[in-house]
Amino acid sequence: MCGIVGYVGHDAVLPVLLDGLSRLEYRGYDSAGVAFIDQEQVKIRKKKGRIKNLEQALIEDGLLNRLEIHIGIGHTRWATHGAPSDENSHPHLSADGRIAVVHNGIIENYLELKRFLLDLGYEFQSETDTEVVAHLVEHHYHEHNDGDILAAVRRTIADLEGSYALGVLCADHPNQFIAARKDSPLVLGLGESCNYIASDIPAILSHTRRIVIMEDREIAQLTADAIILYDALGQIVTREPLLVTWDSEAAEKGGYEHFMMKEMHEEPKAVRDTVMPRLRENRIRFDSLNLDRAAINQLDRIRIVACGTAAHAGIVGKYIIEELCRIPVEVDVASEFRYRNPIVTDKTLTIIISQSGETLDTLAAMREAKRQGSQILAIVNVVGSSIAREADHVIYTVAGPEIAVASTKAYNTQLAALYLLAFQMAFEIGKIDAKQLEAYLTKMVDLPNLIEETLSHQDIIQRFAAEHFNAHSIFFIGRGLDFALSMEASLKLKEISYIHSEAYAGGELKHGTIALIEEGTLVVCPMTQPQLVDKMISNIREVKARGAVILGILTPECAKAAEVCDQVIELPSVDPLLAPIVAVTPTQLFAYYMTVNKGFDVDKPRNLAKSVTVE
Ligand code: M6R
Repeated sequence: MCGIVGYVGHDAVLPVLLDGLSRLEYRGYDSAGVAFIDQEQVKIRKKKGRIKNLEQALIEDGLLNRLEIHIGIGHTRWATHGAPSDENSHPHLSADGRIAVVHNGIIENYLELKRFLLDLGYEFQSETDTEVVAHLVEHHYHEHNDGDILAAVRRTIADLEGSYALGVLCADHPNQFIAARKDSPLVLGLGESCNYIASDIPAILSHTRRIVIMEDREIAQLTADAIILYDALGQIVTREPLLVTWDSEAAEKGGYEHFMMKEMHEEPKAVRDTVMPRLRENRIRFDSLNLDRAAINQLDRIRIVACGTAAHAGIVGKYIIEELCRIPVEVDVASEFRYRNPIVTDKTLTIIISQSGETLDTLAAMREAKRQGSQILAIVNVVGSSIAREADHVIYTVAGPEIAVASTKAYNTQLAALYLLAFQMAFEIGKIDAKQLEAYLTKMVDLPNLIEETLSHQDIIQRFAAEHFNAHSIFFIGRGLDFALSMEASLKLKEISYIHSEAYAGGELKHGTIALIEEGTLVVCPMTQPQLVDKMISNIREVKARGAVILGILTPECAKAAEVCDQVIELPSVDPLLAPIVAVTPTQLFAYYMTVNKGFDVDKPRNLAKSVTVE
């Protein structure tokens, strides 16, 4: 998704902006641009395609390292309004060319504002919603004619509906720029005689660790020496900066060819870091969560709401919470939940799952559930993200920064958090006793070793992928938790390898989809549930009879299914209830190697963004 970086200080600004933008590349983008002040003029350079195209343009114009250019804003765009093109790239200029704007988010009333501006005689150079903002700032700036760019931005955002993170640069103010946000993340970075904005911390982490997270409807005025932050009412806000403790190296590849591979190898540590701090004296302790027996017993249901991989983690959550706690759990994808008038009461616990904590559909769904009186428990990876700040309770996953667009270690840690929650609730309400809890916790502690063992089989998966990467369509089938896992496995494969794939419950294929199975169709079958293995064997025979080639992913307890598989990946022995957290890893490796063989960009798949901050 779009990225923003801004800098004001005494160094050459353009290398800082390009460095910041390239650290946001993983979020996905299709064009990049910068605006800066040079000789009292706002200048912009913007290019469709990769940041290197922009860099090349800056080099050719002799601008890149010019020291006297020390204030600017930069942007990577992921197209929403208008195709990727130089014209639609940000920054956008006001009609008089003296104000430049970068914007993340969507201005929902832009057509109405555009009509208003067209009536005033403004002409538009792009198809974007953002250009409206540039003209509107100019309109308010001239209308009041007081030279107050902060006030002009404040008046502008009062006109906007939708979401925005904004950076605004004005030629009349060569030593300051303005930032504002609503429903789209933006942070302020405090440097030594310089200051920054960024839509995501990694963009500026190599320059500063002192970060202030902007809240919705706040505006900031940045100069080299100070940042003044105002709330929606124009009152000055004092907020202590966070000290970011993770290293910028945590957001770098560390010797791996791709972030995705690095992040899969971080799964054991991520699960360990998520589980261990919560275990004390054979019990589970969540610092900011008080779900005691009375609170759990009064729940009429649990709703889990999330998108993509996080929603798939939620489906595993449903299976295990219902199994252990006998409380009804419903899972919704956030974009549906919000608009389908779901039944939510003050007896509903809504569990929101999000790696980034900024996914707009998920954030909006959370607000809707809250509005209807539900308690919100968020399982989030990014500390200080919007979802984490607005939820009633938070369980942080401790996955560290996840850069590859394809989510891997975040999923394992979301599962780890859900398991801890399910065990804790089941124990509180007496569905499992202390001995059973302790037995589960012992197994949780062992999970990182099992994932490690699974990762050590990556060469078998690599070889298998080398044989099958030309497949046109791949099915995943499983029963019970293996079905939940199959959905995630299928998403991972299609999002990075672009191979069509679907996941089905083992027993469901024969109700229609089996018509698609033909000679050589690859069907991947995770089997970790011994009580269901005979049923799976029958389902496999059904597809084999139509020519399918079977890749089985088997625990030793399901080994008898090997006889119906063409190729087997062996998993270590794992409690069936905990199996998805271990069995997902080979499916991620499979997606990875299929993609590498096809020669596609593993970390930055086409059309996708890491953090989806538009609806
Ligand atoms: O940051 P979130 O967990 O809220 O993101 C949700 C989805 O956009 C995300 O999981 C997406 O499906 C991934 N690309 C999947 O790998």
